Amino acid sequence: MNNSKHEAISSAPAKVILFGEHFVVYHNPAIVAAINKRIHVHAEVNNMPSISIKSGQKSLNIPTASNDNFIQVYDKTTTFLYPIFKCVKHVLSEKEKQTIGINLHINSEIPYGEGLGSSAASCVATIAALYSLFSNRDKHQIYNTAKIMEQNIHTNSSGVDCYVSTFGGIVDFEPNKGFSKIETAKKFSVLIGTTGVKHSTGEVVSQVKLFREKNLSHFKELSSKASMICTKARKAMDEGNELELGSLFTENQKLLSMLGVSHPLIEKLIERCINNGALGAKLTGAGRGGAIIALLPTDKNKEIADRISRESGKWMLVEFDHDGVAIG
Ligand code: MEV
Repeated sequence: MNNSKHEAISSAPAKVILFGEHFVVYHNPAIVAAINKRIHVHAEVNNMPSISIKSGQKSLNIPTASNDNFIQVYDKTTTFLYPIFKCVKHVLSEKEKQTIGINLHINSEIPYGEGLGSSAASCVATIAALYSLFSNRDKHQIYNTAKIMEQNIHTNSSGVDCYVSTFGGIVDFEPNKGFSKIETAKKFSVLIGTTGVKHSTGEVVSQVKLFREKNLSHFKELSSKASMICTKARKAMDEGNELELGSLFTENQKLLSMLGVSHPLIEKLIERCINNGALGAKLTGAGRGGAIIALLPTDKNKEIADRISRESGKWMLVEFDHDGVAIG
């Protein structure tokens, strides 16, 4: 291989949607942040013409040249790995390297299927490692390819997850302006709680599509309220107003409940956060399970996080990531 390496490493961050999930699919604003939980990928060229992927106990080994019909025989345990395989295959075909094999080792700190962007981060990190093998480290190209691959996973993907995982930071998406980074006046403290109920983003997005088709005027009303929340949230972030930001989390959650994407466990975790001193809380990502985020007062964040997590469940006090994808 000319101008290419034998091995490469990369990592990409998970994300939380702070405001605007689901509505963003219909060209409404959203505010999304990368967090300090990552997926790490090690890629190496192998001597066999096959793509082998290992992540914990899960593994997949498919001849590079196989077509989709062959791949259909793989069972559901490969749900997480199959999109990664597609990313590898896509880059090999883009680089006209369909005859070589690749070994991929994945190590993830991101819970899978909990709305924290594990699928986007795995696409971004895999594409970055593969491009790096062929001496391409351009973040815009990584994002563009990851967005196409994410759309294979769920057709109505807005692309916000891939964007924030590639570029990092707190990102504002506005339909007519695209993406821009938000610099906040102070450090905000976000606690993540996971329900343990796995969801398929594609399925929840399809359910919302049906809701929208059946209740178009109600959906438009909810969308315009969600847009207003994003405008107020940008201002609260600029001003470092955590009280306002917290109450906007809770307001956004009410809209998501009306959209039908909440879940009894989400409501339970939110209630626990509020009762223990959180300034506001909401589901994050697709919902119907997955994770919630709570905004904690920064000066008492550890104490409140301890109280909330003492009873049960999986909780993580996270920091925002400002780097995005890292390529070795
Ligand atoms: C999923 O993390 C966020 C959704 O808005 C879908 C998307 O934006 O593609 C539910």
